[in-house]
Amino acid sequence: MAVETVRVGLEERAYDILIGSGVRERAAELAYGRLLTVTDSEVDERYGEWIDTVIGADFKFIFPAGEASKTPVTVIDICRYAALEKYDRKSCFVAVGGGVVGDMTGFAAAIYMRGVRFVQIPTTLLAMVDSSVGGKTGVDIPEGKNLVGAFHQPQLVLIDPDFLKTLPGREIRCGLAEIVKTAMILDAELFAELERDPAGLVDAADFGRMARIIRRCCELKAAVVAEDEREAGLRAILNYGHTFGHAVEMLSGFSISHGEGVAIGMCAAAELAVASGTLSRAEADRQKALLQAVGLPVSLSRRFAVDKVVDVMGRDKKSADGRIKVVTVDRIGHAAVGQPPLEAIAAAVEAIYA
Ligand SMILES: NC(=O)c1ccc[n+]([C@@H]2O[C@H](COP(=O)([O-])OP(=O)(O)OC[C@H]3O[C@@H](n4cnc5c(N)ncnc54)[C@H](O)[C@@H]3O)[C@@H](O)[C@H]2O)c1
Ligand SMILES: [Zn+2]
Repeated sequence: MAVETVRVGLEERAYDILIGSGVRERAAELAYGRLLTVTDSEVDERYGEWIDTVIGADFKFIFPAGEASKTPVTVIDICRYAALEKYDRKSCFVAVGGGVVGDMTGFAAAIYMRGVRFVQIPTTLLAMVDSSVGGKTGVDIPEGKNLVGAFHQPQLVLIDPDFLKTLPGREIRCGLAEIVKTAMILDAELFAELERDPAGLVDAADFGRMARIIRRCCELKAAVVAEDEREAGLRAILNYGHTFGHAVEMLSGFSISHGEGVAIGMCAAAELAVASGTLSRAEADRQKALLQAVGLPVSLSRRFAVDKVVDVMGRDKKSADGRIKVVTVDRIGHAAVGQPPLEAIAAAVEAIYA
């Protein structure tokens, strides 16, 4: 497959996203000084040898896989490891893994010696279509997800769909949640393409189709980021489903994954929009049907009390002057941002109980 390039147009911080089967081999050519690879235990188990031979970094930092590792402590450990091994300001960190690896490696790169370069080599679908692009880096604290972080753009993103061959179905579905999100807020055509054969997306066997979808998502996200790098306005639409989703993720103690939380969150956001008369029931149902067809959850279990969900949402960093900022869509492919009354939010949560 040919290598496709998507440019993230950020002037002096501009960079390329290279997408294509085999593109990971370009990691052998990275010329950004001394390299420190960061990965997690599961990725290292599968790709450790590849990392060692192709990237050939001097050192590799490995942490236990999972969201629970995404803490300030792990980031400081990466920095301490770099300091111990005498990495200087001209070094470069290389993230090989999913969103957890990418978010933490980027954050470590943002703060180590007040900033070193970093490269993203995403290995999950979610990281390929979303987290590896755009320069948002950070960690979770007990008070909330991603509450501590920095904007720090990578030098380069290498997206190789071949990594998906070993990715479990549950993780593929998490990536699909972000893909549906992107389509809902920005691209009705992409949405229709997903509807064409949703089940076929889950086994990700059609790599050509998946690569085209990944490329489209990167293009769409790159355009939003180029217009609003630091989320002064437009970029907030990428949080569609996330304000509800983060709350559900947190309340479940992360047994509900990010992608699953986002899927449930998009359903709540759609209910909110239908109730306020901005989205048609038919389009809300199309979203629900697509999410169901790829095997994502579309409802919430009773064990999460409505007021708890709303309370955690209020603590989310997207809230402004006490009101909760919520992204909705008014039609498929077109987002809207509002600050609905708390009662309307509570009613939307109520509406998605199983
Ligand atoms: N920075 C952003 O803009 C942004 C956007 C969206 C999500 N995120 C963050 O991304 C994180 C979620 O990312 P994720 O879903 O990739 O989770 P993850 O990084 O935890 O990866 C999921 C699991 O898949 C394993 N894995 C990774 N690649 C594999 C492969 N090729 N084969 C087999 N197993 C593999 C990992 O070891 C892990 O156990 C969340 O913390 C979320 O907040 C950030
Ligand atoms: Zn997300």
